[in-house]
Amino acid sequence: MDERIFLSTPHMCGKEMAYIEEAFQTNWIAPLGKNVTEFENEMCTVTGAPCAVAMSAGTAALHMALHYLGVGRGDVVFCSSMTFAASCNPIVYEGGIPIFIDSEPGSWNMSPVALKKAFEKYPNPKAIVVVNLYGQSADYDKILELAKEHHVPVVEDAAESLGATYKGKMTGTIGDFGVLSFNGNKIITTSGGGMLLCKTEEEKAKIVKWITQSRDPARHYQHTELGYNYRMSNICAGIGRGQLTALSDRVAKKTEIFEQYKNGLSDFPVDMMPVCDYGIPNYWLSCMTVRGKNPVSLMEALEARNIESRPIWKPMHLQPYYKDCDYFMHDNDVSKSIFETGICLPSDTKMTKEQQNKVIEILKAQF
Ligand SMILES: Cc1ncc(COP(=O)(O)O)c(C=O)c1O
Repeated sequence: MDERIFLSTPHMCGKEMAYIEEAFQTNWIAPLGKNVTEFENEMCTVTGAPCAVAMSAGTAALHMALHYLGVGRGDVVFCSSMTFAASCNPIVYEGGIPIFIDSEPGSWNMSPVALKKAFEKYPNPKAIVVVNLYGQSADYDKILELAKEHHVPVVEDAAESLGATYKGKMTGTIGDFGVLSFNGNKIITTSGGGMLLCKTEEEKAKIVKWITQSRDPARHYQHTELGYNYRMSNICAGIGRGQLTALSDRVAKKTEIFEQYKNGLSDFPVDMMPVCDYGIPNYWLSCMTVRGKNPVSLMEALEARNIESRPIWKPMHLQPYYKDCDYFMHDNDVSKSIFETGICLPSDTKMTKEQQNKVIEILKAQF
């Protein structure tokens, strides 16, 4: 059997162990420690975010953003439909009601047209969760204009888009809050982890208190607010510090991978995910839609040669759990048709050019 080619796996750069060893030597295994503080500071330097809070997962960061914004029982929250369930599950944790918004065909991200329709029916949502899909920013000018008009805060789910920009700004810093994920398949990983990018020290202080069980400053254990156990460990943060030094290399390699697919498949009935000129993606996953053929047959052909690929996220409005939630389409159901025709191609940064050529040849042979 040929060596397996993966979708996207952890790619260590070699600097991670030094940070972990330092944590061991100083016995800052847990809780907290220098790596957590420094990882947050270094992320602020890289992204330009004023403040950052390292957490156990991107999902936790989304949860805390919505908690901070006061989402509660019965509150409506708008969310991109084409995403991973982690984008909207925290709305439900807080008792809110997710309302799903379709994609626009030009970026696959939240459609301002569909968002406008949602505002006509629900003029006072508590928040909007906007996802930057597969490493490309949504078109924020249009979304933020609508959000401002209705005085609604925006949570930017940048779990997949660390290193990508929108009009020169790093994604994750555009909304009122930005969410990053460092799970194993992301552009950088801490094995599991996430970060909330916020604007002020006051926000950060509140959130840090909540995610460390909301202990009041008293000698005994005292709690006046509900707490969570969501802080990142000092060991994970050490991995993150090493990984962050390689972010620009990872983006460069992911960009090369996308270009190689684009060139290699240019004569075939496929369309790479459109790239918008308002920003620069990090190309986390190279995705495409297929004309006149079921993408499952392509995935099966790749799997037969020990190559991993995946379907596009199944939109949330098509998920059994969320079937009763309201949904606003762009014109026709854009996210559904991308799901039905789309495929995520192997985008592992350790994949060689030869391995990628093999993927391309297998795909071509299917047409
Ligand atoms: C768009 C999106 N949002 C949120 C998450 C959740 O992040 P985590 O797995 O770190 O909780 C992920 C990835 O898993 C994601 O792809």
